[in-house]
Amino acid sequence: MADVKIRELGPELSFGSRVTGMSWDNIEDEDLRQQMRELFIERGVIVFEDMEPSPTLQVELSKIFGPLKDHPTKSTPRADPSLDPGIIDMEHKRDDMAHDHGLTEVNGKKVHSFIPWHFDHTYNDELNYAGVLRAVVVAPEAGRTGFADGIQIFNALDPELIRRIEDLSVLYTLDVRITQMKYGRYFKTFGDMPAQAGLIAEAAIFPRAIHPMIWTRPTGERVAHFCGFSAEGVELHEDPEGDALIEEALQKMYKAIKPYWHQWKTTDMVIWDNHRVLHSVEGCDPKYPRRMHRTTVKGDYDLGRFEHGKKVGEVQREITPLALPA
Ligand SMILES: [Fe+2]
Repeated sequence: MADVKIRELGPELSFGSRVTGMSWDNIEDEDLRQQMRELFIERGVIVFEDMEPSPTLQVELSKIFGPLKDHPTKSTPRADPSLDPGIIDMEHKRDDMAHDHGLTEVNGKKVHSFIPWHFDHTYNDELNYAGVLRAVVVAPEAGRTGFADGIQIFNALDPELIRRIEDLSVLYTLDVRITQMKYGRYFKTFGDMPAQAGLIAEAAIFPRAIHPMIWTRPTGERVAHFCGFSAEGVELHEDPEGDALIEEALQKMYKAIKPYWHQWKTTDMVIWDNHRVLHSVEGCDPKYPRRMHRTTVKGDYDLGRFEHGKKVGEVQREITPLALPA
C-alpha cells in the first residue's frame, strides 16, 4: 500500500481528498478498502487520479463503498448492461445542437449539459449513498463538475434561517427538466430536449418524494441538504409563505457555498457522498461533445419517503408537456 497517496483536495476546502495509486494490483486489499471507506465518511468526496480508464475498474472501485444499485428510472440510458445494469451514460453529441433545445444560459454563456446544484435521486424515497463519475469524453474547455459540502453549508448559514427550516421537508418531482425549475434559478432555459419525453411519461406515474432540509449524520454533524432542482414546494407549506422560504434558503445557500470544481481527465474517477454533498455541472460550449459514466452506490439514509406513502405506479399525475421552442 506504500504506493497509495492521500492528499487534501484543496487547502481552502473543509472537505474532499485526492488519492493516487489505486489500481487492479491493490483494489482487493481489504485494509486499503477499509481505509478508503473511512476516508470517504470523513471527507465526503474522493478524487481518484491516474486510474486506468476502464468501466470494469470503475465498477470495482465503486463496490468498495457498498453494493451497486440500478438507476430508479427506466428512461435513463445505460452504458453497457452486460457489464453492470447500473452504469448510466450521460452523453452530449455535437450534432444534437442544430437548435437551442436543452441549452442553458449561465453567466452570459449558452451551454449544454448544465445542471444546477442538486443531490441525486431527489425524486426517489431511497437516497443512494454515493455516485462515482468517470469522464469518457472530456470537452476541451469547461464542463467541470462542482461539489459542495452540506456540512460546510450548514455551518455557514445564519442560525436564524436554520431555526426556520430545520424541521421542514421539500417535495421533489421526477420531472427534473430545468425548464420547469421553480426555485433558486440562476440561469435561462431555451426549451426541452425531445429526448425528455420518456422522462415525462415516467414522471406521471411517480409519486413525489420528500426529503428533510437539514439532517444529522450518525457521526453527529448537521447537513444542509436541499436544492431547487426538481423541488415542487415545502411539505405542508405549498403556499406563498413556503415558496418564499425555500427561495430565501436557496439564495442564502448560493452565497454560503464554497465549492470544489473538478476539471476532468479521462483517468479520473470521483466519488461523492450523496447524503451530504451537492453537485452541479457548469456546462460547456455546444460545439464540444461530453460523455460521462456514473455508477450508483446503494445505502440509504432512511429519511426520504414518497408522498402519502404511495408507491411508483399508484399515481397518475398531470405533467406539463414538453416546452419545445417554435
Ligand atoms: Fe447528479
